[in-house]
Amino acid sequence: MCGIVGYVGDEECATLLVDGLRKLEYRGYDSAGVAVLGKEGLSVVRAKGKLANLEKRLGEQTPRGMTGIGHTRWATHGKPSDENAHPHKYGGVAVVHNGIIENHLELKETLARAGHKFASETDTEIFAHLIADEEKSGKTLPDAVRGALAKVKGTYALAVMSERSPEMLVVAKNASPLVLGLGETCNFVASDVPAILAHTRDVIFLEEGDFAVITKKGVQLTDRAGNKLARAVRRIDWTPTMAEKNGHKHFMHKEIHEQARALTDTIRGRASVEEGDVYLDGCKLDAKTVAGLNKVHVVACGTSWHASLTGKLMIETLARMPVEVDLASEFRYRQPLVDSRTLCVAVSQSGETADTLGSFREAKSRGARGLAICNVVGSAIAREAEDVLYTHAGPEIGVASTKAFTTQLAAFFLLAVRLGRLRGTLDAPTARKHLEALRELPMLVERTLKHEAEIQQAAYKFSASRDLLFLGRGPQFPVALEGALKLKEISYIHAEGYAAGEMKHGPIALIDENMPVMVLAPRESETEPGVNYEKILGNIQEVKARGGRVIAICSEGDTMVPDLAECAIAIPQTNALLQPIISVIPTQLFSYHVADHRGTDVDQPRNLAKSVTVE
Ligand code: G6P
Repeated sequence: MCGIVGYVGDEECATLLVDGLRKLEYRGYDSAGVAVLGKEGLSVVRAKGKLANLEKRLGEQTPRGMTGIGHTRWATHGKPSDENAHPHKYGGVAVVHNGIIENHLELKETLARAGHKFASETDTEIFAHLIADEEKSGKTLPDAVRGALAKVKGTYALAVMSERSPEMLVVAKNASPLVLGLGETCNFVASDVPAILAHTRDVIFLEEGDFAVITKKGVQLTDRAGNKLARAVRRIDWTPTMAEKNGHKHFMHKEIHEQARALTDTIRGRASVEEGDVYLDGCKLDAKTVAGLNKVHVVACGTSWHASLTGKLMIETLARMPVEVDLASEFRYRQPLVDSRTLCVAVSQSGETADTLGSFREAKSRGARGLAICNVVGSAIAREAEDVLYTHAGPEIGVASTKAFTTQLAAFFLLAVRLGRLRGTLDAPTARKHLEALRELPMLVERTLKHEAEIQQAAYKFSASRDLLFLGRGPQFPVALEGALKLKEISYIHAEGYAAGEMKHGPIALIDENMPVMVLAPRESETEPGVNYEKILGNIQEVKARGGRVIAICSEGDTMVPDLAECAIAIPQTNALLQPIISVIPTQLFSYHVADHRGTDVDQPRNLAKSVTVE
């Protein structure tokens, strides 16, 4: 969390920094600030709350200078306030930081004993004090930053500038992401690519322990000890408009509507219906490697964890391999049973979630082979994996994840088919049928999105509810979990997802006319309704018998479910394993319209952040 942007060049940069921060607001938005170094020295402007507050303040006093750093914050140490907002300044040094300094209290005490006075409650401020002290002892800015880093323990993406070294930024990375952007007569640093995409497409992703000195002429990369490093320059193919709203009221709405395109991009060039097989660029898995594996262990957080639960069904059904799915935060510290016969799959939209990255490293240190399913190209998790399956969903800005989820499901399906073919559990004709269904999905997604007006009506009808229960069985159970998560994240309505068969073991006690129940009840195939469908009809009856109100997601042409439900949304039917990609869409639109109707901040819900880079 927290977004960093920095610039050195020959343009006035205050506005440019704010434009960059706007693209990073998904990382945190409880305060923001910029520091600019010009002829009049170092000026810092900060404001509590959204970026708009900072912009207002900058409108009143735009600082002048062609070297600058900016920050958008997600609080870890110290409440959101003007004082705790970054940049922090001391003795002519300004710093912005993403991460956590674990020994900051100890360092603060030592500095206070030497007469230092602190202006904030943050861990970050100690950097400004340490660096200013080091500089005063005669060191250059890069050496002063190195000296300060030698004293801190913790995680950081750090950008520093100093009145004593104009036209220079010094940056360092340990666990939190940083990318350098290379321009003609200017250079950039940022937490993530969208912040600098309007200026350059040529970037260098920093690795753990990297240290860089940035001037307008170029960037000098070293390790912390000062040994020169060479890192590849990568060209980014996202366009700046891919990160704009394109006429939609919210990014989340735009991203829900982008799902057909996103899925096409995930599948493109990978699924060969004719050959009944899958070609995964970036995955070196072959029959010999797969024969040496005896299980798959998936680690993920949040929405990516829900996608993984469906991924487990896909791999177990098609490749007949045992799959365990763990919440990354639970996996790390429990001596997991993972070894060289395990394929560890890390699933992460951002590719930088701290718990997922930590678990992935833990699994790899125990000998597991690492496969990443990520959206952000070149992200930390992707860089550490032997095999990478990019979802190609494009930038996801709305904090509530939508297209990342559906493309992760498609990626899992591709992986499951590939593993099935390599292990011989899936013959070519059956694989062909599965891949045909996959190929049709974008079209079915478009058809589902056409139901938006009905879904919006249902959302308005239930938008005053205090609680809502989501029920699903088999492949629809993770959809129930995801539906509930989406609703609570953006509308602040309490919601729970439950396996429908478990309802009688607890949640049924809550059911009455004030507890609407959304039931995911699609038929499982064109020819047969399927056992999960038949069972869930019973669950709907149980809800109704207790006076509950049912909103049902059912298959087009079904008459049984609509007869029982107060509202029924009919969706296209597909292969049971792929059906979650379709049935999740009404839940996304439902949550979106409930939240929009209630007037919450859909794209930046309170207390959340898009990328969680702290444990
Ligand atoms: C945060 C986001 C969620 C996301 C989760 C995991 O909590 O708000 O939308 O699902 O992190 O993120 P990842 O980038 O690892 O998929």
